Amino acid sequence: MILSIDTSADETAVAITEGRNIVSNALYSQILLHKQWGGIVPSLAKRAHQERIDLVVEEACEKLLSHKKIKKNKTALEAAMKTVDAVAVTYGPGLAVALEVGIDKAKELAKKYKKPLIGVNHLEGHIYSCFAQNRSGNPKTKIEFPYLALIVSGGHTELVYLKDHLTYEILGETLDDAAGEALDKAAKLLGFGYPGGPVIERLASSVKNKDSHGLPRPMKKSDNLDFSFSGLKTALYYLLQKMEKKEINKQVKHLASSFQEAVFESLLIKTEKAIKKTGVKRLLVGGGVVANKHLRNYMRALVKKYDGEVLFPPYQYLSGDNAAMIGIVAHYKFEKKQFVKKPETLDRVPRLRLE
Ligand code: KG4
Ligand code: ZN
Repeated sequence: MILSIDTSADETAVAITEGRNIVSNALYSQILLHKQWGGIVPSLAKRAHQERIDLVVEEACEKLLSHKKIKKNKTALEAAMKTVDAVAVTYGPGLAVALEVGIDKAKELAKKYKKPLIGVNHLEGHIYSCFAQNRSGNPKTKIEFPYLALIVSGGHTELVYLKDHLTYEILGETLDDAAGEALDKAAKLLGFGYPGGPVIERLASSVKNKDSHGLPRPMKKSDNLDFSFSGLKTALYYLLQKMEKKEINKQVKHLASSFQEAVFESLLIKTEKAIKKTGVKRLLVGGGVVANKHLRNYMRALVKKYDGEVLFPPYQYLSGDNAAMIGIVAHYKFEKKQFVKKPETLDRVPRLRLE
């Protein structure tokens, strides 16, 4: 049983997991706080994490107690920590001032309750979110290595080869913007707020001719597995410059759809190349953008072509940031006794990479 914390960006997230099972998943989202600024404001994020973290820890513990039918004397935390075996925390990549809040809280809990501390890379979390089992007791997904993982979030777009648990080889990554970031920027150019991915999905969903504007497919011809999305954003910018405001409004759904198609097809092209290069046809797709139903369908169709399989995070919990995915990674680290040797020295690594 592991209590995990993730404060890498704009969600204050605490979860309790038992193996791959999500026992409780508590979350305070700061989206409304940052929306008016069009993106995450670090100083606001830090303060909001500090103000909320204890409440979110308590909420996660309350949920554990009610699930396990345990009575509490004082706080839910006191009672919950009697059944928790370790504390895990995201130490990167992410916003330094935000990561610190979670790390400090995790150190405090580990010390006070004498539990081992486990440090987790947020991107490992997005990958392992695909292995989650939710409480409803759905049949256990079998884990069979090797896997190819595609991470598509607001900060990252990476293709990763996993030979076994907790071993990562980055095969390709974005050279500039991440896929989610590109969708966010496109939404902004079209006059919508942050986060833009869900807005683009909604606009595009009723469009029949999905690719009427034929935007470019960046890096399509290059032989490597890297991505690039900033040119795509520039292409949309110049296209909009040439259009009258009235015309843009009329075309907005088609513009959104064409942009989304260009991003997703780029993801598909490189993922297919990776399947061909490695011969691995079992896919894991994690990160905020995998909330998108079109993308899920495209990925399903891709693996079908190769008689492979694809796992996504359980939709209702885990496509965006959360701490349950950190707990699932921590479970495998616990089994290998990969604890932080000197907990007091654990520091945030804003540009942490998978290795
Ligand atoms: O993983 P995540 O919650 O945070 C990061 O670690 O970055 O990903 C956030 C990203 C944002 O760019 C957001 O626009 C995108 O995920 N996103 C979506 C959808 N929901 C969130 N993109 C496309 N379709 C969606 N439905
Ligand atoms: Zn994330």
